[in-house]
Amino acid sequence: MEQPRNRRQLAFSLVFGLWLPCCLTQTLSSNAATATPKLSPSPQPQTERIRVRLVGFPRKHNEGRIELFYRGEWGTICDDDFSIANANVLCRQLGFVSATGWTHSAKYGKGQGKIWLDNVLCNGGEKSIEFCKSRGWGNSDCTHDEDAGVVCKDERIPGFVESNVIDAHVDENKIEEVRLRPVVAAAKKKLPITEGVLEVKYKDGWAQICDLGWTVKNTHVVCGMLGFPHERKVIKSFYKQTSKAKANSKSKQSSPGKRLYLERQKKYFHIHSVACTGTEVHLAACPLEFSKPNTTSSCEGGMPVVVSCMPGPQFMQNSGLKKKLKTSSNVRLKGGARLGEGRVEVLKDNKWGTVCDDRWDLQSASVVCRELGFGSAKEALTGARMGQGMGPVYMNEVKCVGEEKSIWNCPYKNVTSEDCQHMEDAAVRCNVPYMGLENMIQLTGGRTRYEGRVEVLSSDSNGTQRWGLICGENWSTKEAMVACRQLGLGYANQGLQIRLVGGRSNYEGRVEVQVGSRWGTVCSTGWTTKEAMVVCRQLGLGYSMHAINETWYWDSSNVTEMVMSGMKCTGNEMALSQCQHHKTVSCQRAAARFAAGVICSETASDLVLNASLVEQTVYIEDRPLHMLYCAAEEDCLSKSAAKANWPYGHRRLLRFSSQIHNIGRADFKPKAGRHSWVWHACHGHYHSMDIFTHYDLLSANGSKVAEGHKASFCLEDTDCQEGVSKRYECANFGDQGITVGCWDLYRHDIDCQWIDITDVRPGNYIMQVVINPNYEVAESDFTNNAMKCNCKYDGHRIWFHNCHIGDAFSEEAERKFEKYPGQLNNQIS
Ligand SMILES: *[C@@H]1O[C@H](CO)[C@@H](O)[C@H](O)[C@H]1NC(C)=O
Ligand SMILES: *[C@@H]1O[C@H](CO)[C@@H](O)[C@H](O)[C@H]1NC(C)=O
Ligand SMILES: *[C@@H]1O[C@H](CO)[C@@H](O)[C@H](O)[C@H]1NC(C)=O
Ligand SMILES: *[C@@H]1O[C@H](CO)[C@@H](O)[C@H](O)[C@H]1NC(C)=O
Ligand SMILES: *[C@@H]1O[C@H](CO)[C@@H](O)[C@H](O)[C@H]1NC(C)=O
Ligand SMILES: *[C@@H]1O[C@H](CO)[C@@H](O)[C@H](O)[C@H]1NC(C)=O
Ligand SMILES: *[C@@H]1O[C@H](CO)[C@@H](O)[C@H](O)[C@H]1NC(C)=O
Ligand SMILES: *[C@@H]1O[C@H](CO)[C@@H](O)[C@H](O)[C@H]1NC(C)=O
Repeated sequence: MEQPRNRRQLAFSLVFGLWLPCCLTQTLSSNAATATPKLSPSPQPQTERIRVRLVGFPRKHNEGRIELFYRGEWGTICDDDFSIANANVLCRQLGFVSATGWTHSAKYGKGQGKIWLDNVLCNGGEKSIEFCKSRGWGNSDCTHDEDAGVVCKDERIPGFVESNVIDAHVDENKIEEVRLRPVVAAAKKKLPITEGVLEVKYKDGWAQICDLGWTVKNTHVVCGMLGFPHERKVIKSFYKQTSKAKANSKSKQSSPGKRLYLERQKKYFHIHSVACTGTEVHLAACPLEFSKPNTTSSCEGGMPVVVSCMPGPQFMQNSGLKKKLKTSSNVRLKGGARLGEGRVEVLKDNKWGTVCDDRWDLQSASVVCRELGFGSAKEALTGARMGQGMGPVYMNEVKCVGEEKSIWNCPYKNVTSEDCQHMEDAAVRCNVPYMGLENMIQLTGGRTRYEGRVEVLSSDSNGTQRWGLICGENWSTKEAMVACRQLGLGYANQGLQIRLVGGRSNYEGRVEVQVGSRWGTVCSTGWTTKEAMVVCRQLGLGYSMHAINETWYWDSSNVTEMVMSGMKCTGNEMALSQCQHHKTVSCQRAAARFAAGVICSETASDLVLNASLVEQTVYIEDRPLHMLYCAAEEDCLSKSAAKANWPYGHRRLLRFSSQIHNIGRADFKPKAGRHSWVWHACHGHYHSMDIFTHYDLLSANGSKVAEGHKASFCLEDTDCQEGVSKRYECANFGDQGITVGCWDLYRHDIDCQWIDITDVRPGNYIMQVVINPNYEVAESDFTNNAMKCNCKYDGHRIWFHNCHIGDAFSEEAERKFEKYPGQLNNQIS
């Protein structure tokens, strides 16, 4: 009896010691004082982390039956003695701020397997359900008819990294990672490495696999893990070298077979009899056997497994093949912070839509990844983890086997509107190959590592490689950016090193870059969301919430010199080194307090305009000037209004409603703090953003015919989708913003919600609205910030058609849109 108790106490103190050392003694003593030993904190082996999930049907993403993962098994909780305090603990564990209720009697359906906990009694403040009192793990007199559920408040704990990732069920103790070691000398130089001896990280070293019984299906799995969609046949004879005599002979100095044979003498084959079905996402998920130690001869007659993979077109050097093997144009990833990740979107009838996450799994996710030229899926994500899409949800219950060429070939169900909403949009994270692109380009002749003439590595006809210069003619910023991107792509630790210093958490701080061997800060002049976004991406910290240009309030005990200035990024770069900056530091205010900083976040907002509402609500109003004094004061009329004969006459206004949705993962909040909001007496509210949207009317050649109207709004939640509560309102100097899942409606009859078209002649135009045009506030996706409509104006009436957000159409449909009949000749058809 003594031993288990000690172990329990050890586990207990380890778990508690991590986060609340001061309370350890209290907890233990109060425990001892409790007379009834029946209910006690559930002991927990310290190696295992409890996982919690919400399941069942029907339900929203923030409610469901509670299931706990313990000892390799999912199980439920019995509703006996359940309380809101229990629900609070569970909701926080799931990443929600609190619970709004709980359910009993298997409201979300009966679970299966174990009933892990019963008579759970939390006091509400516990970090995890395992610290609450209960009858103990697996000790229950309930049936699944009594499964408990929770309803969580639909508000995420800021920065909470979600657990709604579908795992590969990989036994990490078995195999951690794999690599290809090229045997042929030439292959060593080419990246990505697509062919070589397969080596598996095993315990402390790398082991090889015996190729007896090795199948192409195993190769498929390995290629997927390495970021490649397909495998290639290995020319075995090329590697074959069985005779020891031959290996020792001096005739074929460097034949691959010989090298392989010699190598094999040094290595142990730890693994054999691998039997993948081909749809696994990790080698560890395949049946395989380990050899006994010291058995070097276990691969009699065989050789080390050699694997050859076919990279996706975007990672291929041979451009001829590239064209032939174009990646799918029916599927895309949106809203991800990194290469090879994002919300899955599919194209149907020239319009993009999303995939619902019911039954979403790694096999289906892998089909998407391979289709896009990546490897298998590293993670399948549910619950709009990469933000919600707009427009239709096309597929539900996608159930790929894993061998399909396209997600469209997998069995799925059509979506009826009740089935699925965008809060269930599926997403993926794919395995991508290591490219090492930064090694194929170099800068020479500059004064620092970060400037100079661009040299590229090119191959002669006979295969020898050499460095060469590029013609300077027509070399513009765009080309320079590509060169720069190549120098740092995807590898935060190579190229320009950066780090965050002095912040309150890992997610914020002054930005420091490494120049040579010393670290220094970056000048904050011109430092914006775009630059900050690149920093966060490069550091793997997600999105940038804020670009900070004054960092005096952070710890400044170890500040370094300022070494960079004039940063200018497009926002899409994979590393800061890809952005422009001054060649020599030139900062107006060079003191450390003006160093550039960021606050990063795993989530960001994403604003989108409801295009169909714009189309439905458009009309013309001739508004008398005497009703427009306020509008004139706020600059909502075109310039010619100044010359009008006030207050006589009128202005012709193009009016429509704007409904701006936040479909991202974080609230949209104005960048400026309350103290700098501007009171607009005319309209009786504060404007929190100087320029929130641009409204423009464009001619066929893209020039503006109606002066761009820069609207500043007061941001609030006009309404929200079901289950989300409003939080922002303009009235009474309220907090301004747009909650995730809510929208801000600017009705057509609100002052300034128009384009002044008094000077516009009849004809066909394109109407364009751009939200957050200056990237003032971070969003996970800026490509959907523009909305365009075809516009027909006959001098009296106006029509909008084909209204759509910037990324909703296929390329073909977008081209048609730009050149619709009558667009170029300006005839009204
Ligand atoms: C394995 O080899 C080592 C030395 O090579 C030897 O000391 C050890 O006894 C061997 N173990 C077995 C089980 O044969
Ligand atoms: C889904 O709808 C399309 C028409 O939009 C139809 O052709 C197809 O058969 C439907 N698929 C299923 C599985 O119901
Ligand atoms: C072939 O390579 C050699 C160096 O190995 C080089 O000197 C020669 O110019 C190359 N020939 C061609 C045609 O590129
Ligand atoms: C540079 O651009 C001009 C105009 O686009 C073109 O005529 C010229 O051929 C280009 N020069 C080179 C070297 O590509
Ligand atoms: C920081 O930005 C604010 C507003 O964008 C500006 O008013 C301020 O002068 C900037 N500070 C520095 C040091 O550039
Ligand atoms: C400053 O640097 C010293 C030496 O690297 C280090 O020991 C100390 O912790 C640093 N202080 C802070 C506040 O980071
Ligand atoms: C957009 O507006 C239309 C028309 O009023 C409406 O039916 C639709 O529900 C709106 N879309 C969203 C996502 O709210
Ligand atoms: C675009 O078209 C307008 C008339 O619609 C014309 O005044 C303007 O010069 C054109 N601009 C260009 C660059 O062709």
